Amino acid sequence: MKKRPRRIRKNSFIRDLVAETSLPEVSQLIYPVFIQEGRTVHQEIKSMPGQYRLSIDLLLQRMATWRKLGLNNYALFPNIDNSLKNENASEALNPDGFLYQAIKQIKDRFPEVNLFTDLALDPFSSDGHDGIIENGKIVNDRTVEVLAQMAILQAQAGADFVCPSDMMDGRVRQIRRALEREGLCDTGIVAYSAKYASSFYGPFRDALDSAPRAGDKKTYQMDFRNSREAMKEIELDIQEGADIVMIKPALSFLDIIAQAKRYFKYPVAAYNVSGEYAMVKAAAGNGWLDENKALVEILTSIKRAGADIIFTYHAVDYAKLRNS
Ligand code: PBG
Repeated sequence: MKKRPRRIRKNSFIRDLVAETSLPEVSQLIYPVFIQEGRTVHQEIKSMPGQYRLSIDLLLQRMATWRKLGLNNYALFPNIDNSLKNENASEALNPDGFLYQAIKQIKDRFPEVNLFTDLALDPFSSDGHDGIIENGKIVNDRTVEVLAQMAILQAQAGADFVCPSDMMDGRVRQIRRALEREGLCDTGIVAYSAKYASSFYGPFRDALDSAPRAGDKKTYQMDFRNSREAMKEIELDIQEGADIVMIKPALSFLDIIAQAKRYFKYPVAAYNVSGEYAMVKAAAGNGWLDENKALVEILTSIKRAGADIIFTYHAVDYAKLRNS
């Protein structure tokens, strides 16, 4: 035998020399956090062990600790009281609403952290949809107008990047235009460009009690059979003004991440979503796999596929591992 591929695997030093990817850096992670009105609120999300709905006082305390681990980028998801939800998601445009106060408080205390704020109506909608419903349909253009308003409020409160996750057509252009008009030219856009209609969002919807009351999200989120369509969505978002594009979920869409990286000269983010996190936690909780090894393998695979940035609920566990 002339070729023996095992030669370059024989010890850890040679394996390190030939490694094609390094582990993701903690500085490449964005940690999604669930926030909740009140004081000293600290509710564990049943389907996401280790993740909590936190009131801002507690979040600020924890952030101080997480920052010591090198976590300086956070995505915010507000849990809105059911009594404030309605068909028009009008609480989303209340400038004194909880989300906007939370952004201000966090940026007041930690001006250097980057806040990535989710831009969609589902946390505020009594229907649990990302857009406004008229005659049983999610209407595009009216939703986009609301999203553009919401982007202004988020940016004025201090958001560093607004992150449209709604999958309406043309929203990045309208959001960019609205931000520029208001002089908010330093606020960036992370577009959830290729966001698939996925069963892996289940635990997230538990966390925010935001599951669609009727139907599913297939008229706006993408069909998981498609990949060319993902390139089209990404291209449009780039043309419309996105700074960073995202693929979501991550693990069933590693091929899409790889293609996006190859086609476009833009930073590519991937969202390692709630259901992907829940699977690891459930299996590890049962003693069926080694959680630390699994999460290093998962995050590295997302980076190897081509992601520059990873949104992940494993961020704190991973940062602790890397710091230990
Ligand atoms: C809301 C939104 C969702 C997620 C991020 N933003 C849920 C959905 O579209 O139903 C999912 C995140 C996760 O599962 O971790 N538009």
